[in-house]
Amino acid sequence: KTPDGWLPRDPRLIRLTGVHPFNVEAPLTDLFNEGFLTSPELFYVRNHGAVPQVQDEEIPDWEFSIEGLVENPITLTLKDLIAGYPQITCPITLVCAGNRRKEQNVVRKTKGFSWGAAGVSTALWTGTMMQELLKVAKPKRGARYVCMEGADKLPNGYYGTSVKLNWAMDPNRGMMLAHKMNGEMLRPDHGKPLRAVIPGQIGGRSVKWLKKLIITDKPSDNWYHIYDNRVLPTSVSPEESANNQAWWMDERYAIFDLSCNSAIAYPAHEEQLCLVGAPEFYRAKGYAYGGGGRRITRVEVTLDKGKTWRLANIDYAEDRYREAAGTELFGGTIDMEWREASFCWCFWNIDIPLAELRDAKDIFVRCMDESMTIQPRDMYWSVLGMMNNPWFRVTISLEK
Ligand code: MTE
Repeated sequence: KTPDGWLPRDPRLIRLTGVHPFNVEAPLTDLFNEGFLTSPELFYVRNHGAVPQVQDEEIPDWEFSIEGLVENPITLTLKDLIAGYPQITCPITLVCAGNRRKEQNVVRKTKGFSWGAAGVSTALWTGTMMQELLKVAKPKRGARYVCMEGADKLPNGYYGTSVKLNWAMDPNRGMMLAHKMNGEMLRPDHGKPLRAVIPGQIGGRSVKWLKKLIITDKPSDNWYHIYDNRVLPTSVSPEESANNQAWWMDERYAIFDLSCNSAIAYPAHEEQLCLVGAPEFYRAKGYAYGGGGRRITRVEVTLDKGKTWRLANIDYAEDRYREAAGTELFGGTIDMEWREASFCWCFWNIDIPLAELRDAKDIFVRCMDESMTIQPRDMYWSVLGMMNNPWFRVTISLEK
């Protein structure tokens, strides 16, 4: 038993907070070495409280409901959901809005704990498209939001948030209710037995241990929707944010789409490279992801702090699943040929001639997405320390 329950966890995971709740990321190189799909052992975990304990025999009878502004309120068990609705399987990357927050905390302490760059992971999710359920529930006129609520009871109520109803109704946005991850039932930390998966948006919208979808005319009034996952203006200090509620009530500051971001896994930060007897090139490698379904269209690396950039190669492993559309996998159909959007990270690499690497003190990477949005040079600090995406840097030294 661990202090926060009974779950066995992988010892390679690095705890980012005290013993409870469980918030962890893998060492970046280990995460990267896993490849396109992350195993449940090294998938990052962001829990706000204790994990609801659901025994295996209780899974088929797990109940959840669709209520609020709908003509046909629905209460379903997981068993009914699987039997009664088409099941699909898709790779989708989840990213915590706090990914890379550590760099912000170095500049100025935020209210959040220090994520490195491994608050991101990818799995093959199997489940039901949210749109299929909403079509049956029939939202009424005036309905605009889908509020989601989990079963984890926290100091400020159940965890919950909302997304726009027209997004949830749009198959191109790929929102789903998943009960399997890489072909296995969800692990307790990842929402066993049922969770929302909201592609292209911050992980905070993908509600775990899902109990309710409530259709409303207003965004969620859940505490965690209002006081979490927001980028307040940079001028708002921790004190000001605590004293003036108005900052939190402004829905314009709520984060939905991820912003484009990238990181270097090889070399590791502060790695001492041994180039003696090495081949002529050093292969730098890492990941990149876009937000809102936007594909990463270029990844660039600089050895001279941005004076000159060189173009990296990109591998879009996601497309191999796109090509396998129609195939049955884990009880769901790979069903993404209609989906133009890109909801997964991609991996990049570049061969740097050793002669050039010898003079470099650091390496930076940046990426651009298909809307030509590029990672900025400078950091945008905000009180919760979220959406940090300036050029990613590693410093290196050479073994003499
Ligand atoms: N859902 C519930 N019910 N409770 C939570 O604490 N954390 C959210 C989201 N869904 C959370 C939740 C946050 S902030 C993130 S980043 C993702 O779950 C993390 O999902 P993971 O732990 O499976 O990686």
